[in-house]
Amino acid sequence: MIYLDAAATTLQKPVEVASAMAQAVRQYASPGRGGYPPSAAAAELAFCCRTELAEFLGAAGPEQIIFTSSATHGLNIAIRTLVGPGDQAVISGYEHNAVTRTLASIPGVETRVAATQLFSREADIEAFRSQIDHKTKAVICTHVSNVFGYILPIGEIAALCREREVPLIVDASQSAGVLPIETETWQAAYVALPGHKGLYGPQGTGVLVCGKESRPVPLLTGGTGSESRLQQMPDYLPDGQEAGTHNMPGIAGLYAGLRFVRRVGTERILRHERQLMKQLIPALKRVPGAEVFVPECGSCHAGVLSFRLGGKDCETVSGCLGRQGIALRAGLHCAPLAHQLAGTLETGTIRASVSAFNRESDIRTLTWMLNNL
Ligand code: ALA
Repeated sequence: MIYLDAAATTLQKPVEVASAMAQAVRQYASPGRGGYPPSAAAAELAFCCRTELAEFLGAAGPEQIIFTSSATHGLNIAIRTLVGPGDQAVISGYEHNAVTRTLASIPGVETRVAATQLFSREADIEAFRSQIDHKTKAVICTHVSNVFGYILPIGEIAALCREREVPLIVDASQSAGVLPIETETWQAAYVALPGHKGLYGPQGTGVLVCGKESRPVPLLTGGTGSESRLQQMPDYLPDGQEAGTHNMPGIAGLYAGLRFVRRVGTERILRHERQLMKQLIPALKRVPGAEVFVPECGSCHAGVLSFRLGGKDCETVSGCLGRQGIALRAGLHCAPLAHQLAGTLETGTIRASVSAFNRESDIRTLTWMLNNL
């Protein structure tokens, strides 16, 4: 199979991810719950993983790293901590349903969308500037669009949030592992990311990075192995956010994936993904009837793109490719706002997204197939 759906999850993982997980199943007990070696070894591994994640994600320290089950889980914690009933929040025009449905589920929330133009960094900054006001409780912005691979001007949006003293939540679902994540430089309140995409960990893992001053309200309450006499969750991190037994096989796999990314280097991975996009974009444009949605400037684009093929139904095309061994995702990709901005809400798009494991031959095969559908 030629797998071109890394934006959903990376299917090819470094071999050490599966072996770390298998070893964890055999060797780790519950971290922080016992003084015996398998529990201590689990606690040690969780701490090492937290420490490397903190360095990698620009956090103030390992205690600011919360293990979650997904980016969605982290976004729910962050949003529900900062936005209450009747509040107002400002979001970008590219947000995922993990953000928009969470906001919509809080009674009476006003969600303002800061978007006027597709793929315009200047327009995005201006739109945030005009939408944020004294009532704004949080700005929520994705770093990279999961539909188009467009890189939002997160540094400038973070600066605006600092100037207006509004907490910023960054969705780094598509950027962690390919672009620098600078939690403390941005002074972000929270950065949420999955473990199973650009960090090459297993599904069921995610990370919520908490800014130095952030005290998230727990979504889940329960045992933490600490402060057990109290009927309230510990008021310090990470314990206050990690109720229940940890997903040690997941954390071990995530740690192995993270070490792979650090060894290869995010810059090199990004360069590789951009090289594949540079090959794919002109080849796609030559397919009869193809409409390709990419930002003009290459430095605003990561390894994800969307396209349509003339009048052909996107789901039908991706189904046909799937039967021939090429995996792409079609539809709205859980991000209807982005399609509204691009004018593709009615049809959706076909999305190709690459990882460190794709090769130029994958792109050649895809374009050959599209030309011969
Ligand atoms: N949000 C993921 C995607 O874009 C699952 O496919």
